[in-house]
Amino acid sequence: MSSTAHVETHLNVVEKLLSNGFNHLQVNKNYIFPPNERPQIDEVSHSYSIPVIDLKDLDGPARKSVVNEIKRACEEDGFFQIVNHGVPETLMKSMMDVAKEFFEMPLEDRACLCSEDVSQSARLSTSFNITKDKFLNWMDFLTLQCHPLEEFIHSWPQKPAACREIAGTYAKEIRALTLRLLAAISEAMEKDSDYLNTIFKKHRQVMNINYYPPCPNPDLTLGVAPHSDATGITLLMQGLVSGLQVLKDGEWFAVEPTPNALVVNLGDQLQVLSNGRFQSVEHRAVTNSTTARITIPTFYGPSLDAFISPAESMVDEDHPALYKGFTCGEYFKAFRSQGLKGKSLLDRFKIQNGQ
Ligand code: OGA
Ligand code: NI
Repeated sequence: MSSTAHVETHLNVVEKLLSNGFNHLQVNKNYIFPPNERPQIDEVSHSYSIPVIDLKDLDGPARKSVVNEIKRACEEDGFFQIVNHGVPETLMKSMMDVAKEFFEMPLEDRACLCSEDVSQSARLSTSFNITKDKFLNWMDFLTLQCHPLEEFIHSWPQKPAACREIAGTYAKEIRALTLRLLAAISEAMEKDSDYLNTIFKKHRQVMNINYYPPCPNPDLTLGVAPHSDATGITLLMQGLVSGLQVLKDGEWFAVEPTPNALVVNLGDQLQVLSNGRFQSVEHRAVTNSTTARITIPTFYGPSLDAFISPAESMVDEDHPALYKGFTCGEYFKAFRSQGLKGKSLLDRFKIQNGQ
């Protein structure tokens, strides 16, 4: 992008931010999804809920049985909640408080972070990709590159005053937990516990703080349109306000918040590495008219130079490779440019007619 283009998109983001200090009394037409893509809020089902996995015994003698539970959830649900995960409750609360404070600060304290340049290690934006989104998502987000932390933390916001320290500590805790999960998932793939750690090369960790202000028309809008995550694995702190929904057997189900649990879901990279055995499940967030909602997902996966293709332990005569190999960088570029469209991006990397 040229520098004039940068200035223009910067101003475009600033202008479109929902967290601008005003209450929204009506929804601008750019946020109204066509009738067949609206969320049908009243039809959401509660008859299925994602499994809850207790990690208390993950590093003890009962490891095998916890790994098996994780394996079953990866195969059948693609989503699960974890408890006794080791991230201190006080830290989760401080992280949520800082996030809230950030979005409640006056716009002039945040406007300098507004950018559509994805190479920025800290940036504030809205929707998903405002230069491409046909319908805007009812969400602002701050996105922070987190690994290696020393490389990025100096570019993170200095306001609120506790931001760097708390978000830095949270990022480190989440990374440690994610590495434990990746070891377990490697074992669930019949590989050494170090398998995914190695495949991910230098690793990439990105933390988002998603802010969904109250919306006057939850039936016409979406907080995040249906998509699967382009990453390896996502760990989401959902807070106490519901809004996340997962698609299972063609039906949308709410993921109700469980205090202090984290929601885990597999991303497209793990679906490819597992040769389709593990599911990267389509999900979305709906809005509500009364309560601002903040969620903090951490997207964790391979660095952009890592090459991703089905693991050989997952491929045999009965299970031929389903996906072409690609670099993670290629995949992200395609994700960014095609936008949030269910699972259609992953389909583009499928092997068709033997090629
Ligand atoms: C995401 C996402 C869901 C939520 O940011 O990729 O799916 O509830 N968020 O915020
Ligand atoms: Ni997502």
